[in-house]
Amino acid sequence: MTVTGPTWEYDGYRPEEERLRESLCTLGNGYFATRGALPECAADDVHYPGTYAAGCYDRLTSEVAGRRVENEDMVNLPNWLALRFRPAEGDWLRPDTTPVAGHHQILHLDPGLLERRTDYGLPGGGTLQVHQLRLVHLADPHLAALRTEFTVEGRTLGLEAEAALDGSVTNSGVARYQELDGRHLTRFDTGTAAPGTVWLSCHTRTSDMRFGLAHRLTANFPVTHANEAHRAVQRVSLHLTPGRTVTVDKTVALHTSRDPAIGDPLHAAVERVEAAPGFDELRASHATAWEQLWRRTALEVPGEAGSILRLHLFHVLQTLSPHTADLDAGVPARGLHGEAYRGHVFWDELFVLPYLNLHLPEVSRALLHYRHRRLDAARHAARERGRRGALYPWQSGSDGREETQQLHLNPRSGRWLPDHSQLQHHVGSAVAYNVWQYYEATGDTDFLHGEGAEMLLHIARFWADSATYDPALGRHRIRGVVGPDEYHDGYPGADTPGLDDNAYTNVTAAWVLARALDLLNALPEPRRRELTDGIGLEEDEPDRWEDVSRSLYVPYHDGVISQFDGYGDLAELDWDGYRRRYDDIRRLDRILEAEGDTVNRYKASKQADVLMLGYLFSASELRALFGRLGYHLDDRTWAATVDHYLHRTSHGSTLSGLVHGWILARARRADAWAFVQEALRGDIADLQGGTTGEGIHLGAMAGTLDLVQRGLTGLETRGGVLSLDPVPLPELSSYGFPIRYHGHWGVHLRLRSGLLEIAVPASHHSPIGVRLREQVIPVVPGETARLVLPE
Ligand code: BGC
Repeated sequence: MTVTGPTWEYDGYRPEEERLRESLCTLGNGYFATRGALPECAADDVHYPGTYAAGCYDRLTSEVAGRRVENEDMVNLPNWLALRFRPAEGDWLRPDTTPVAGHHQILHLDPGLLERRTDYGLPGGGTLQVHQLRLVHLADPHLAALRTEFTVEGRTLGLEAEAALDGSVTNSGVARYQELDGRHLTRFDTGTAAPGTVWLSCHTRTSDMRFGLAHRLTANFPVTHANEAHRAVQRVSLHLTPGRTVTVDKTVALHTSRDPAIGDPLHAAVERVEAAPGFDELRASHATAWEQLWRRTALEVPGEAGSILRLHLFHVLQTLSPHTADLDAGVPARGLHGEAYRGHVFWDELFVLPYLNLHLPEVSRALLHYRHRRLDAARHAARERGRRGALYPWQSGSDGREETQQLHLNPRSGRWLPDHSQLQHHVGSAVAYNVWQYYEATGDTDFLHGEGAEMLLHIARFWADSATYDPALGRHRIRGVVGPDEYHDGYPGADTPGLDDNAYTNVTAAWVLARALDLLNALPEPRRRELTDGIGLEEDEPDRWEDVSRSLYVPYHDGVISQFDGYGDLAELDWDGYRRRYDDIRRLDRILEAEGDTVNRYKASKQADVLMLGYLFSASELRALFGRLGYHLDDRTWAATVDHYLHRTSHGSTLSGLVHGWILARARRADAWAFVQEALRGDIADLQGGTTGEGIHLGAMAGTLDLVQRGLTGLETRGGVLSLDPVPLPELSSYGFPIRYHGHWGVHLRLRSGLLEIAVPASHHSPIGVRLREQVIPVVPGETARLVLPE
């Protein structure tokens, strides 16, 4: 792979790399996305052409390890990309069976195009050059197009090309899930519509969503139709003479029954494809849409880091674009790029929304709406546990119920194991944090006082109701949970899963309670009445919230914050020994289980857990939060805590490198860059051992953007003031980006040669209060504030 500015290039055909390239060359527009698979290849061990529409799920029951398990998948939709070709009366040409003289793929980020060139050696001599350009339209999110140019060298050639909408797909992109039923599509119908259009419709098996796809093939040769039960097919016989290029364009429309402003998805798709302009025009309007989006988001960072950040931004925007604002969809942990984690939504939005808030706040708001629409489900989940308030699920899909699997496979041991990750109740604090951050970045009080307040109050209530008073400690405790680390899901030898007093959970719960109280105080009286009547808030509840928010227990051992109560008693792992014995110990949990041991016995974490606190809160905020809880958090204790976990974390999640890079950079530590690099290279180099081929890691990608935006600048949007507290990271010492803040568009931040500038464009808005080194100065629209950083 080579990077030149905004293009990513892959040279040569490498079957073993194909899945990774497919994920990284995915094209999407926030409404749907399609993996960068070769159009002539159907799904097999090498290729996996997946197409996914945001928020489209289906639930099936399978028999696994003798148990019936339900799983909800983001549905792999009919493959619109399919386009194969063969010499008249010959075999279909595919890189796995036909000699390939050259193969080149280029992802053009700026205009959002995927280009490929392949030279196929023809049986009987001569070469067929195949050049393709593909787009998933950013202005009209229901359209996609594929241009194919065929050129023959050394002979004349009769070539048959066949384009299809292929419904014979399943969800089978992740080997670990192969025992789960992945046949989500049913009730296929295919047909022909004038002029020159074929269509395919189908339903999901249990969620009963309907999909309509239509395609139109254009070429300078007659096109024929040959529909089959699961495939809408068009064929064209081309006559190729040496050196003369023949072009075949495939234009596709996709609608789902969830779309607004349509009658039915099939008619909508047929009409849309018939009305669609030709490829050149589509390409031009697509490029314009990208240009506009880049202008709102562009992150200028020189060098290789800058290229990677741009790729990350591209994939974030392809998953969550302005079109997402119209959808009922959450943040899928692996983008719309593959089937890992079945397209589910986790806490990863914690790493995504803070970035989006400052560029596309309407998208953040829509993503929070996704959570709000599922507030009743979260309240139901809390009630089922005998608690008040709202318990958001660890994994969320269509209707907001808990989607976490009950069993997961350890591919190392081949054993199916109980999955307790749904005890990660801290996901609710992530939702609350995002509500608050969104408000701070936008000043959107309508949202905060409306849906935001409903979520925040219910989440706070859940925490207050989850906390039990321990007279021996004189503190409140939250017991039986799992923290972000995930490796530890219970005490060694215990019969029931869960841990007590996960520090991250308790401290963030205290923060949520404190914000809920702030909000209650700040609400306009009529709205406060509405809300408190609506949720039946009892008179003594705010006092209890206050009490719990000041008395939650934070365990310590050896002068550092303990990940959970009793962590200090766990055994030390022989890290060096494991590193010697295994090439890669990121998934230490699987290694230990396969050895008949359990990671629960050791001081060994998958990813940042306690240290997440330093990611979410600035040093001063964290100190204040601990102070409120009656603990004195000094710099020495925090530094010792950072070191403790740094040496006991295997980084089995891409989020880990990001968080460690962030907090080490904030602590001005020389080892920060190694972690930042790990976060930057996570997907492009597939550092988590082959998982990128199953979908990108959206949280880590967005997190690296936010690392520059908020991590390095120290940008905080607290209390209506924009605070900046930059820290140096020599390898990333110059950057610039625009933000949208409290109605100001295009506020530009730039760091260069030790000078930080913040330019507020001319407008009729009020000045922005900017805090630099304890001093708040108003920056009037049309002016620029400058801060010289210390050497
Ligand atoms: C991480 C979680 C994350 C999930 C989805 C897991 O490997 O441990 O923190 O939410 O992946 O990205």
